[in-house]
Amino acid sequence: MIETSDMQFEERVVTPQAVDEDRDVEVTLRPQTLVEYIGQDKVKENLAIYIEAAKRRGDPLDHVLLYGPPGLGKTTLSSIIAHEMGVNLRVTTGPAIEKAGDLAAILTNLQPNDVLFIDEIHRLNRQVEEILYPALEDHAIDIIMGKGPSARSLRVDLNPFTLVGATTRAGQLSSPLRDRFGVIHRLELYTPEQLSDIVRRSAMLLKIPCSIDGAMEIAGRARGTPRIANRLLKRVRDFADVMGDGEITQEIAKMALTRLEIDELGLDSNDRRMLETIIKGYGGGPVGLETLASAMGEETVTLEDVCEPFLMQLGFLARTPRGRCATVPAYQHLGYRPPQEDSGMDGQMSLN
Ligand code: ADE
Repeated sequence: MIETSDMQFEERVVTPQAVDEDRDVEVTLRPQTLVEYIGQDKVKENLAIYIEAAKRRGDPLDHVLLYGPPGLGKTTLSSIIAHEMGVNLRVTTGPAIEKAGDLAAILTNLQPNDVLFIDEIHRLNRQVEEILYPALEDHAIDIIMGKGPSARSLRVDLNPFTLVGATTRAGQLSSPLRDRFGVIHRLELYTPEQLSDIVRRSAMLLKIPCSIDGAMEIAGRARGTPRIANRLLKRVRDFADVMGDGEITQEIAKMALTRLEIDELGLDSNDRRMLETIIKGYGGGPVGLETLASAMGEETVTLEDVCEPFLMQLGFLARTPRGRCATVPAYQHLGYRPPQEDSGMDGQMSLN
């Protein structure tokens, strides 16, 4: 049975997690090379060097950990790494690998220098994680055969490979696992200009006529996330087909996104509800995350992974040791009068 909160989460047009309708289009639109990949310049520049060096030496690329909010292109980067290295990509997720034997089967099937991508790597269980350590360090796994005093350990050599781990929560990774990654990169939310380039590229590939300001309108409301930008592009196309002549203009994009209740900054009703709960229910904060989540009837992870990164990037939300605070620009955006500086807001005003 699906939990109510999961349903609310999935229904949002601006959910950064992949939903079923995203998958086909993401594969079609996925850039195959670093040159085609827009944004994340620092990550791209470094990876280009590491990939070139590994290829010259004939070695696998060092293990790579990518972390940051969902929807920013971690899976895409792993497929680019495999493509640029000229090797196969094997994709799985932390929770899908239930038993040590599941991981052993995957590892023993890898060809030399292949890339193994594990999404949500923070959700690997302990036994599976322990199999991974010697695999990452010595390209070998130790298989325990039998039980009790007659148990024997059998070492099986593996082909050298690259693990690309992805997580939204680097803090939840155990330190022995984190220490085994040679390359660690945080993916950042995209700027509206980068998202506009992504929307225009996607529109071209999907043969959707889209004006420059139409693309910018979508990009400005896609909360820093290519997955959301591409999803909005498809929704706006429907409006352009039915209510216009098929071209995404700024006017059509504005009308469509307003109907989808996504405001000019990309906030949807849940973001507004979060800020309003802090402002109206808790005097602007600070309020603890758990308290806030239960007041809103949401999961704490939804607020942390979906609402917070974006609201913080906009400067609408501050995380303090005592809890979350709404900032002056948040009050202004929602049309509330900000509190005065001497109103005992625990120094909140100085955060703006
Ligand atoms: N599609 C989704 N993310 C992309 C990116 N970063 N660059 C190009 N196309 C994309």
